[in-house]
Amino acid sequence: MPEDKLTNFDLEKIVDTTDEWIRTRTGIEERRILKGEGKATSDMVAPAVMEICKKRGIDPMEIDCLIVATVTPDMVFPATANIACDKIGAKNAWGFDVSAACSGFLYSLTLGSSLIESGRYKKVVVCGADKMSAIIDYSDRTTCIIFGDGAGAVLLEPNTEGLGVQDSILKSDGSGCQYLHMKAGGSLKPATVETVMAREHYAFQDGQPVFKAAVKGMADVSADLLERNNLTGNDISWLVPHQANLRIIDATANRIGLPREKVMINIQKYGNTTAGTIPLCLWNWEKQLKKGENIVLAAFGGGFTWGATLVKWAY
Ligand SMILES: CC(C)(COP(=O)(O)OP(=O)(O)OC[C@H]1O[C@@H](n2cnc3c(N)ncnc32)[C@H](O)[C@@H]1OP(=O)(O)O)[C@@H](O)C(=O)NCCC(=O)NCCS
Repeated sequence: MPEDKLTNFDLEKIVDTTDEWIRTRTGIEERRILKGEGKATSDMVAPAVMEICKKRGIDPMEIDCLIVATVTPDMVFPATANIACDKIGAKNAWGFDVSAACSGFLYSLTLGSSLIESGRYKKVVVCGADKMSAIIDYSDRTTCIIFGDGAGAVLLEPNTEGLGVQDSILKSDGSGCQYLHMKAGGSLKPATVETVMAREHYAFQDGQPVFKAAVKGMADVSADLLERNNLTGNDISWLVPHQANLRIIDATANRIGLPREKVMINIQKYGNTTAGTIPLCLWNWEKQLKKGENIVLAAFGGGFTWGATLVKWAY
């Protein structure tokens, strides 16, 4: 996590909002912002991956593949994964970025675990990372209150005990593009003076339809995942929901019958870090997790993209 904080009280000075409105409508109190000339998403990926290497006692040279889920890559190309591998000296790794907005970590986790299941790779790192402050319009009170910067990562390795990723249901619906997108800077609308003047290089969100689709999408897919695996809320130790809005998190937890104390929530201190939220929750709660526990990860985001993944914690 970057060290610099942006609190609701700071935002009160920038846009027409209040700490009370933000807290009651979203649950957010503060977020972190990556400041400094030349600092990009890869500067959060690199320390997250290095922390894993240190914890696991491995050298970055042992990493086979790094997958970075992000919508705020350092550049359109090359991939942030490639830049981060260079920064940490992971010279034996191949890697790529995944663009699936707030569901990026779940999409990448399925990809990463498939690489392990193929038997061809032994150490795959999956990182969710976004420097949202790079694409947020700090004059738009409906979006700037939600987002923050951050990165989290997990290491995937083979095991013979049936641990790790068990099952995933992943979905997408491109008709949701109209409600959550960045208009310019892609091949549809390359950057021009006009696109800059029209503030089209910032994230646009029509909050209400996104909210409605998120409540339904995240809850439905989590319930379907449990049903497909013959599980109920009683079998689940933790729900790790994408941290977009406390009200969306509560709706998902209620739907699968999990009380608040079994739900990881850190939205109050980090806001919505897009692909970063789920691995950051795992990082915050790591000491409380026990080997073999069933954990449900659930996300919804731009695309629309959404999904849920069942994991048996491995250590
Ligand atoms: C963005 C979001 C917090 C807005 O909350 P909301 O309850 O839907 O609020 P609305 O957009 O209906 O706005 C309600 C009122 O609050 C106002 N408002 C919006 N932002 C505000 C702010 N920061 N401070 C004060 N008032 C604000 C609106 O102008 C509107 O005023 P009006 O009734 O006079 O027109 C909410 O829609 C949301 O969380 N959406 C989903 C986000 C998400 O999951 N994204 C996917 C992953 S990124």
